Amino acid sequence: MADNDFDLDPGLIYLNHAAVSPWPRRTADAVKSFAEENARLGSSHYPRWVKTEQTLREQLQRLVNARSADEIALLKNTSEALSMVAYGLSWQPGDNVVISNQEFPSNRIIWESLAKYGVVTLAADITHTDHPEDAVIDQINDHTRLVSVSSVQYGTGLRLDLARIGAACHERDALFCVDAIQSLGAMQFDVQAIQADFVMADGHKWMMGPEGVALFWCRSEIMDRLDLKQYGWHMVEDCGNYASKTWEVAHTARRFECGSPNMTGIHALQASLSLIEAVGMPVVETRIMENSRFLIDFFLTCNARYKLMTPAPEHRHAGIVTFCPTDESPESLFSKLSEARVSCALRGGGVRFSPHYYTPRKHLVKALGLLDE
Ligand SMILES: Cc1ncc(COP(=O)(O)O)c(C=O)c1O
Repeated sequence: MADNDFDLDPGLIYLNHAAVSPWPRRTADAVKSFAEENARLGSSHYPRWVKTEQTLREQLQRLVNARSADEIALLKNTSEALSMVAYGLSWQPGDNVVISNQEFPSNRIIWESLAKYGVVTLAADITHTDHPEDAVIDQINDHTRLVSVSSVQYGTGLRLDLARIGAACHERDALFCVDAIQSLGAMQFDVQAIQADFVMADGHKWMMGPEGVALFWCRSEIMDRLDLKQYGWHMVEDCGNYASKTWEVAHTARRFECGSPNMTGIHALQASLSLIEAVGMPVVETRIMENSRFLIDFFLTCNARYKLMTPAPEHRHAGIVTFCPTDESPESLFSKLSEARVSCALRGGGVRFSPHYYTPRKHLVKALGLLDE
């Protein structure tokens, strides 16, 4: 890490990337200069902005190993992308959607909202088992149209073997949807290897971007299966031709973007991903896993005052490590940590730490030192 990549307040220990990430220095600079340009020149250089937008699509394409940047739409957030899938597919009464019992509310509520069409949401219990993929796969039956899981659970940090679930979906003719917000920018990811149909993730966690710009990847072969509910100038094939009285839906994932893009957010996320690409995802992933291992080892070996809630085996977690104090409430520990300026979160019934690749080891040592007091 270059010294000037981040500019965090020196008194702050930031272990909260699974919530909202701080911006890298270059992201803050990109937004500042975009603001300055807007103030001085308005949209005079709009064609350059469109190039930045295309660069972002290509960065995201590489991040998820999509076959083409045309499979990537830039939406507002993960929930919007999940809704695009839920309300784009056509449902029959009796159809079901399989999720897990640990999902973030968005990846449950959206499917449950389809009850009005007679769609049933089945939540696999992935908590009380050593084989969470089997638990998900066992729920799939003849009426299952879609399986939707988070790649990494927001509370416990449990990581699923997506390739296994994807293969089962493929065999049983169910669509496979992955909320990858707790993976992208932390772990290497391959939409093709896992045989996914839809992948979504907002940029403000491990991708270190702002809130409000999200990736929505849709496998090109099934794009036409999503009925569109939002229309506008930006989602038609010939989108610069305002005079035309005829139109057709864009052949690419731009069809999911009805109007003007979030150009500020696009400039910011493009800058954040340029840092991730400069460091390289393999390095980012290795460092994140080293941080998780360091924390997990502390909870496993240190003392009985804390119960580790994140699965310890390397293939079962990513960047989230959650633990619960046994001699006080998670809330009181959380307040102490917050007072000591350790940024973390109360999630999944415990306290959640989520350092990124650049988090100095001494910050982890200091946070753990507070737990030892
Ligand atoms: C697994 C998961 N999905 C989705 C979200 C957030 O969704 P959105 O991008 O719609 O705000 C979170 C935020 O914590 C999350 O952890």
